Amino acid sequence: MQVVTLCVLAAALAGQATGGLLPPERPYKILMLLPVGSKSHRNVFLPLAEALTDRGHKIVMLTNLPPASKNPNIMEINHDLPYMGNATQNMFDKGKKSGRCLGDFKYMLPFIAKELYKVPAVKKLYDKRKEFDLIVVNHMLNEVSAGPGGKMYIPKQPGRGGNKPPPPTQPHPPSFCPQIAYPFVHEVPFITVATPGMDHCQSAVYGNVLNPSYAPNFMVTFPLPMSLWHRLKNTFMHLYIPFFWRTWAVVPAVQKEISAQFPHLPPLLELERNQSLTLMNTHFSIATPVPLLPSQVEVGAMHCRPAKPLPKDLESWLDGAGSAGVIYFSLGSIARGETMPPEYRQAFLEAFRRLPQRVLWKYEGELEGVSDNVRISSWLPQQDVLAHDSVKVFISHGGLLSLQESIFHATPLLVLPIFADQPKNAMFVENSGLGRMLVWEELTADSIVDALTDIITQPKYKENVAKMSASLRDQLTTPQERAVFWTEYVIRHRGAPQLRCPGAQISWVEFLMLDVMGLLLAALLLLVFILRRLVKTVSTLLFGNTAKTKKE
Ligand SMILES: *[C@@H]1O[C@H](CO)[C@@H](O)[C@H](O)[C@H]1NC(C)=O
Ligand SMILES: *[C@@H]1O[C@H](CO)[C@@H](O)[C@H](O)[C@H]1NC(C)=O
Repeated sequence: MQVVTLCVLAAALAGQATGGLLPPERPYKILMLLPVGSKSHRNVFLPLAEALTDRGHKIVMLTNLPPASKNPNIMEINHDLPYMGNATQNMFDKGKKSGRCLGDFKYMLPFIAKELYKVPAVKKLYDKRKEFDLIVVNHMLNEVSAGPGGKMYIPKQPGRGGNKPPPPTQPHPPSFCPQIAYPFVHEVPFITVATPGMDHCQSAVYGNVLNPSYAPNFMVTFPLPMSLWHRLKNTFMHLYIPFFWRTWAVVPAVQKEISAQFPHLPPLLELERNQSLTLMNTHFSIATPVPLLPSQVEVGAMHCRPAKPLPKDLESWLDGAGSAGVIYFSLGSIARGETMPPEYRQAFLEAFRRLPQRVLWKYEGELEGVSDNVRISSWLPQQDVLAHDSVKVFISHGGLLSLQESIFHATPLLVLPIFADQPKNAMFVENSGLGRMLVWEELTADSIVDALTDIITQPKYKENVAKMSASLRDQLTTPQERAVFWTEYVIRHRGAPQLRCPGAQISWVEFLMLDVMGLLLAALLLLVFILRRLVKTVSTLLFGNTAKTKKE
């Protein structure tokens, strides 16, 4: 008990995120690969990269974004392939047209696989890959994804009153590792960062097959305990998603392009199995707790930090809201303000005009008809805003990083999910009482005013989110510290084979013990057969002749 208290104290006092660790044996060279992804993926990688450079290590990062870090020990390389243009044009549109998304996807990933290794900077990096002590791969292309079509399932919310939200039309996002980066990791130790948290397909690659009787799948979280119908759907999703992504639609197409360029490379899915460890952007206090292997390390909310001072004028504007408070509104980095359909924009403007709160709206572009209580800005220091006492509610698209920041800074949420894992995050917010969720298709000024008033006037939302925030912050070590420790651990132990679960090495027949059960069944049948013969023989011996004699 005392040791625990001391460690917590040490972690708290250390000031620096990784202050509790012994100095590393030498500076390492680490290559981070996130060739397909959005800003929010890099936002998960950068805190890890920063923390590693604090320890004296050097980072090279392959991305599809213009460099963002000013840290001299982080070198960002932008491969600059022009596929993201299609994917980020209009997320409101994307959310609706699942068919087109899928088309984009099937086209996009093989396209990148074909072009990526021809980019001179990437080729150079590939040739030098064995000079790195470790490669860190982004497991996911969460934000650009949309998937096998069909409708997103949203459970009916009990006791809400008024209109029940209908299932929105977001497509299922498969959101899996594009496998495109895996030629790099051949014969080099590597780990992954699971940017969207737990992915049951990835977990199975490690030998930890999650039980669909209670573990949510990647896209939908049902209320627990699940009904028979939900368990059936959940099981289907657990099986269908990997089938769609890995066996059928995407990986084979990528594999074809990769094989054409690297004929002697083992299959991508085999290389993927050689990962030593995964750093998962989740934590049991903000998701469904599930069993984990030692190689599945939770580092969720790694990017969350205590508030820094706000710009003076913004601070005084927030303070000036008085007891009514402030509503903060941001749809993240992908769904840009001007792409929002005008009817939704009008609904928000009208709702804000009727509310007594001040509204801080992150919006790119010009807006007309804005009431006096609304302040527009194209960029805002989100965490510092969320931490401000006046901010009563965060209107969000439900991106995972925004959700984590809101919980960390104990701000209730109103979620309007657009695509990918956002509907699932929105359902988590509703199910956990952290706030409310609205569906775009049903959006009116009235529903916005009602939901916001409910969240602001009822103390339960603030209490629930404060409770969850306290549990998220109550950790023996900081997420950065864990991420750095385990990254260095894998290097120190040359891939750390001691972490591997034997469950990952056996076939699914062996894993499910179908052979053992088959054998037991055969033995049982044999036993029954022998017993019957025995009983027959004995009874013939004892009574057989009498029976026969009687008949005769
Ligand atoms: C973008 O989409 C269009 C059609 O939807 C396609 O013709 C074009 O090649 C795509 N471009 C990229 C770079 O994905
Ligand atoms: C698998 O990983 C180990 C260490 O992490 C490495 O030495 C080995 O070469 C890798 N195997 C393949 C086929 O890449």
